Amino acid sequence: MKRSIRDLVNLEGKRVFLRADFNLPMDKVGRITDTTRVINELPTIRYLLQRGAKLIICSHLGRPKGFDFRLSMWPISLILMKYFPGKVQFSEKIIGPQVKEQIENMSNGSILLLENVRFYKEEEENEPNFAKELASLADIYVNDAFGVAHRKHASTFGVARLLPNAIGFLMENEIKTISEAIENPKRPFVAIFGGAKVQDKIKAILNIAKSADVIMVGGAMAYSFLMAKGFTVGRSMANTESVQTAEKIIKELDEMGKRLLIPIDHVAYMFGDKKEKTFVVETLSGEMVGADIGPQTIKLFEDEIKEARQVIWNGPLGKYEDPKFQEGTFQIAKRIAHSQAYSIVGGGDSVSAVKQARCMRMINHISTGGGATLKLLGGESLPGIEVIQEKYI
Ligand code: ADP
Ligand code: 3PG
Ligand code: MG
Repeated sequence: MKRSIRDLVNLEGKRVFLRADFNLPMDKVGRITDTTRVINELPTIRYLLQRGAKLIICSHLGRPKGFDFRLSMWPISLILMKYFPGKVQFSEKIIGPQVKEQIENMSNGSILLLENVRFYKEEEENEPNFAKELASLADIYVNDAFGVAHRKHASTFGVARLLPNAIGFLMENEIKTISEAIENPKRPFVAIFGGAKVQDKIKAILNIAKSADVIMVGGAMAYSFLMAKGFTVGRSMANTESVQTAEKIIKELDEMGKRLLIPIDHVAYMFGDKKEKTFVVETLSGEMVGADIGPQTIKLFEDEIKEARQVIWNGPLGKYEDPKFQEGTFQIAKRIAHSQAYSIVGGGDSVSAVKQARCMRMINHISTGGGATLKLLGGESLPGIEVIQEKYI
C-alpha cells in the first residue's frame, strides 16, 4: 500500500508540492466547462491546509507546445479562490528565483498555484534538472493527479524521486476502488465497453474479462467485433487493425469461457446523407453507417444490467454528442444508475455522457481518469503511483 497524506506528520510550515490534475475540459473558445476535477481535489487541499502546510499546487492544462495564454492556469486560480478566499496566489513562473521568493513569503495554510507545467518542454521529457528545480521548491511531494499517473513526466515522476512523498485522497480512493472492483468483484459482474478506441482499450478488456462474468461491447468498437464475427457493417467505423484486435479478444474470451454480447441492431444513417434521416436496422450493409445501438440491443444490455451486482463502464455506446444517436448511451447510463449494482464509470466522454443523462449522483464511483483508469483496469503499473514509497518502510 502506498504512503498517503494521512501518514505525514508535522506538516506545520512545511512546503508541500501537490501535483493535481486540473486539466479541466474547455469549450472551443477556451472557457472551462466543468470543474469536477477541482471539486474532487478539495478534500486533499483542505486536509493539508488545516495542518498548516504551505501548499504549492502544480498541474498541466491541455497539451500546449510552449507558452500558450489560452492554456494558462490563471482561471483555475480564480476557481480555487472561491473555495479558499484570501488564501490563494498565482505564480506565472514554475522554477527560478521569482517563484522561490513567492514561496518564501507564503504563510502557513495558504496556496500558491503554479502556471501550466507543460509550458516547459522539460516536463514531458522528464528532464532531470527540471525535476531537481521543482524539488527545490518544496519539502514534501504529494501526488494526487490520478488522471495523469500513467505519464512519466517531471512533475508526476521525476520530482517524486527527489523528495519524501505520498499520495493524496483522490489518488488513494481511485486506486482502492478500481483495484477492489477488479480483484474482489460483486457478482454477477458486467463490464461494458464502447467508444472508439479498441486499440487503447484492449488490455483493459482482456484484464477485466478475467474477473467479469459478461462483457458487452457497443459504440464504434462494436463494428470491429461484428466484422470479426463475419457480419457486414456497411460504412461504419472499423479498420483492419481494429478487426484483428477484436478477433484476438473474441478468441481469448472464448478460451476463458466468458460471455460476450455485441449489438443485434443499430441506429444508422446513409453515408453522405448528412445524418439527417436515421433508421433502425439489424444488419448494416452497403452505404449504411452505424451510430448508436438499437432498441433491441438496449433491451439485451439492460436485462444483463438488471441482474448485475457490479458494473464497470467505459466508452459511450453511440455518437452521443449528436442528440439523434444518444439514446443508447443515455438509456444504459440510466439503467446502470438505477440498478442495484455497484457502478464504476471511467473515461472522459463516458463521464460527460453520464452527466448529460443526469445520472452522476447515482453512480457509485466516477473515475477522474481516462487513460489512467484504463491502464489501472488493464492491470498495468502507473509510473506516478509506482514512484511513491510504500507505507511501511
Ligand atoms: P472515453 O473518453 O469515455 O474513454 P472514447 O474516447 O473511447 O470514450 O470514445 C468516445 C467517442 O466515441 C465519442 O466521441 C463518440 O462519438 C464516439 N462513438 C461512439 N459510438 C460511435 C459510433 N457508433 N460511431 C462513431 N463514433 C462513435
Ligand atoms: C486527462 O485529461 O486524461 C489527463 O489530464 C491526462 O492528460 P494527457 O492525456 O494530455 O496526458
Ligand atoms: Mg474520449
